[in-house]
Parts: sequence; structure tokens; C-alpha cells
Amino acid sequence: MEEIVELMKSRHSVRQYHDKKISEDVRETLNMYAAELNEKGGLHMQIIYDEPECFNSRMAHYGKFENCNNYIAMVGKKAYDLDERCDFYGELLVLKAQELGLNTCWTALTHGKSKAFQVKSNLQLM
Ligand SMILES: Cc1cc2nc3c(=O)[nH]c(=O)nc-3n(C[C@H](O)[C@H](O)[C@H](O)COP(=O)(O)O)c2cc1C
Repeated sequence: MEEIVELMKSRHSVRQYHDKKISEDVRETLNMYAAELNEKGGLHMQIIYDEPECFNSRMAHYGKFENCNNYIAMVGKKAYDLDERCDFYGELLVLKAQELGLNTCWTALTHGKSKAFQVKSNLQLM
């Protein structure tokens, strides 16, 4: 409990990133945790690595995003409580990223399009 509070205190939004690849170890830990949270929350959160296009749009530049080559797509089946579950389980995932030494920023507007993640017909990108 104390640990997660410390992670919450240390996390803040970052929009300019180092142009550095995320290590395989970190990817594996994060992917495993995302799979666990997807199961618990009935979600389809997808972590995309090494994909610069989504944050290379006019809106992303306007939002001052730089070197944002890795991101998490918040996806789930359409439901009245999808936003709440994305919020809760997504926050746990970004706190895990923080623990692993990765900064994050929530965005709903200042990003472009991406073909790197799947949003099947009954699903929704939040
Ligand atoms: C659901 C959601 C969507 C957001 N969308 C954007 C966005 O598109 N672009 C942006 O620059 N900040 C966006 N923000 C704001 C930042 O993620 C962040 O909450 C704000 O800058 C506060 O920073 P802090 O984390 O350092 O307190 C969004 C926040 C939330 C919760």
C-alpha cells in the first residue's frame, strides 16, 4: 500500500521523452501485468512499442509530444462503465510503468492515428 502511494506521488505527466528503446525485460514485465489487468478488468489494453507515427501528428506536436514511440491504447468492449474500468486499470498500468522507470501521460486528444493496435467492431478506443 505504502509503495503504491509513493509511486502516485512520484508520477507526473511527461511529454518529451528520450529517444531510447525500452528493454526487453521491462517490456516483458509490463506486458505480463497488462495481460493480468486486462483479464481482471475485462479490457483489451494494448501496449505498442517502437511506433513513432501515433504521436507524430499535428495535434501531438501541438501538444508538445516528442519521441513518444511507445504508448498504451485503452481499448475495451463498449459498456456503460468502460471509462471507469479504463481509468482504474489503466492507472494501475501507468503506475507499474512508473515503477519500472518509465514516465507516462494520459492523452485523449493530442495524438494522431495508428494502425498498430486493433479495435474490433464491438470494441472502443477510449
Ligand atoms: C482522460 C485524460 C485525457 C487527457 N488528454 C490529454 C491530451 O490529449 N493531451 C494532453 O496534453 N494532456 C491530456 N490530459 C492531461 C494530462 O494527462 C495530465 O493529466 C495533466 O497534464 C496533469 O499532469 P500531472 O499528471 O503532472 O498532474 C488528459 C488527462 C486525462 C485524465
